[in-house]
Amino acid sequence: MIRSVVRGHGAALPKRVMTNKELEGVVETSDEWIVQRTGIRQRYIAGEGETTASLGAQAARAALDNAGLTPDDIDLVLVATSTPDNTFPATAVDIQRRLGMTHGYAFDMQAVCSGFVYAMATADLYIRGGMAKRVLVIGAETFSRILDWKDRTTCVLFGDGAGALVLEAQEGKGTISDRGILTAHLRSDGTHKDKLYVDGGPSSTGTVGHLRMEGREVFKHAVGMITDVIEAAFAATGTTAEDLDWLVPHQANRRIIDGSAKKLGIPLEKVVVTVDLHGNTSAASIPLALSVAASDGRIKKGDLVMLEAMGGGFTWGALLVRW
Ligand code: UT7
Repeated sequence: MIRSVVRGHGAALPKRVMTNKELEGVVETSDEWIVQRTGIRQRYIAGEGETTASLGAQAARAALDNAGLTPDDIDLVLVATSTPDNTFPATAVDIQRRLGMTHGYAFDMQAVCSGFVYAMATADLYIRGGMAKRVLVIGAETFSRILDWKDRTTCVLFGDGAGALVLEAQEGKGTISDRGILTAHLRSDGTHKDKLYVDGGPSSTGTVGHLRMEGREVFKHAVGMITDVIEAAFAATGTTAEDLDWLVPHQANRRIIDGSAKKLGIPLEKVVVTVDLHGNTSAASIPLALSVAASDGRIKKGDLVMLEAMGGGFTWGALLVRW
């Protein structure tokens, strides 16, 4: 059977680092509160000329280099983002343009922090359905541009960045020893819409709006939803926590990451954590973390890697990949 195999990875971060200390001068907060409650120590903030499309294109180029490929080899550019450069066209077509691609097709996906998991699952279907041989799957965000910088309950949590993977159709045996995406599980429940949302949009207010979150409410649901969907991925593949080499979670909060790993019986040494460095970069957080851990040699070819995310909607999902 056809499998969607990771052939390359890349990442891009804005030039400017913003530390917790610096935030103490913006809102009434402290480095101690932020570290204790979230594990975040710094985040990157996009400057002039740095946008979701520019960061996404940079991550895409890095992933293509890592894969030893060029834009000519790509059939589909799929971008997970909630902070597009423009309401339309899709950020994906702008990235396609920046890569000099005039062939193939490109579109965006919007599932907030779960966007990258949704995009990977979608790319897998396009590949297995024969509609693409190679897909650039990009998670790219500039959440700093939709934050209310007077709201300390949200502005300390998020950051900007982008990550990308190149997925390639390869022949597999149809067993869990195959490389590539082994199973994908997506969920959403719109009854939670008002717990994490942006209070603007083209059709409602005609403005971009700002991020609003009932943090405690999101926190309350996070661990249960994450562990539930990971259990579904284990059940579908006949694997257990012991078979995993790495858990690469969405990086929202260290306490949510640790709580989920503990509940699943996954030792913390097997969990990739970058929330301290990047903050919550929404759809970019998983590909950024993957790129960090694959570049530093932690994630190796053949490793069994679980990706999971939960966010606005609520949306959540898990994906089991053999690297
Ligand atoms: O990626 C999408 C998914 N999003 C998430 O996963 C976020 C989920 N939620 C969380 O991570 C946590 O709920 C937060 C980190 C947002 C907040 O942590 P918490 O432990 O749930 O704190 P809290 O909201 O219960 O607030 C505790 C106290 C409050 O003061 P009082 O009411 O107890 O006097 C807040 O006003 O901390 C206060 N507080 C702050 N203090 C200093 C809230 N934000 C800050 C701040 N600095 N930045």
